[in-house]
Amino acid sequence: MDIKQQFKNVFANEAEHVYFAPGRVNLIGEHVDYNGGMVLPCALTIGTYGVVSLRNDEKIRIYSENFKETGIVHLHIGSKDLENGYYDYIIAMLALLEEKGHKVEKGFDLYLYGNIPNGSGLSSSASLTVLLGYLLNNLFNFGLTKVDLAKLGQACEHYVGVNCGIMDHFASSLGDDGKAIYLNTNTLEYSYVPVDFKDYQLLVVNTNKKRKLTDSKYNERRAECDKSLEMLKEHYNIKELCDLKVSDLERVEEILNDDVLFRRVKHAVSENDRVLKFSKALQEGDLLLAGKYLNQSHESLRYDYEVTGLELDTIVDSFIVQKGTIGARMVGAGFGGCAIALVHKDKVESVVKYASKLYESIIGYEPTVYYVELGTGVHKIS
Ligand code: GLA
Repeated sequence: MDIKQQFKNVFANEAEHVYFAPGRVNLIGEHVDYNGGMVLPCALTIGTYGVVSLRNDEKIRIYSENFKETGIVHLHIGSKDLENGYYDYIIAMLALLEEKGHKVEKGFDLYLYGNIPNGSGLSSSASLTVLLGYLLNNLFNFGLTKVDLAKLGQACEHYVGVNCGIMDHFASSLGDDGKAIYLNTNTLEYSYVPVDFKDYQLLVVNTNKKRKLTDSKYNERRAECDKSLEMLKEHYNIKELCDLKVSDLERVEEILNDDVLFRRVKHAVSENDRVLKFSKALQEGDLLLAGKYLNQSHESLRYDYEVTGLELDTIVDSFIVQKGTIGARMVGAGFGGCAIALVHKDKVESVVKYASKLYESIIGYEPTVYYVELGTGVHKIS
């Protein structure tokens, strides 16, 4: 699709700049980014494109190819009130920039096109917020760093009511081709880990179950973690749940004296530990071991954190039972969306075929399988 031409068709105006921000897939470290844990996300080559032209007034016009039925949305520089549309992220960004003293000096026309499947859990909303922050920073020279942009993107989600962590925005902003980001979500220290799956193919598999993060139990899980943290702080000198070690868990269980809360903490602490181990196995080229950690991660998200559900468990099981799969797990918030699987390249076609059939026979509709590639963080295209 010629998005500059599309811009012209919609706004009857010349397109000036084109930007792109990717979605992400997290290799491991799920539901720990709001507990100060380690995560290992990668930017993808799919994401959100923004074509923009500055105006000479304070008007902002937005059109999204993904929400055609909404038509052209009219906002202005001082827009602050949410309207329950996809463009709430734009309103949030404008409000937050103003709050931080960054002046959007002119209005603009913005055409958006995203090729991340909606609701797939590959962070279409994070890519939108990071795209917006980056393009406004670029157009108006706010001097924001890519880490600032990740924080701003996260703040936009909080503004619209999703209490998410920083992982998705960090990956969309700072991703690097062929690498995962080994990120400490407590200190925001990070390094890059080369991703070489050798004879194995990384697949992203969409369960095609529709979900919305704001509707999910995401905020409930966060609240359970916060409650546990408060209780544990009376016994440990910790700031975040992931400051605890696996060896602390026995005592933690006694202190909490609550099965549900204990399982939430157990997931966070054990998952954090797995990120380190997975990353080591990946760097040492021990993919069979890395695959085992993926499976363990899924088990923990399924039984202890309880964020998977029938579709995600079925898709993961459907892959794991096929010879050639060395690991699989849900990714992102859960309750639907996508899973990843590592499958031997020689067997990948038949594994995909039989796993998809098995899933369909249980769930009633097919999954969608993507052979994803890792890409770079937000950037200007022309
Ligand atoms: C969503 C959130 C992230 C993270 C994941 C779970 O993608 O946006 O911040 O919490 O869920 O790991």
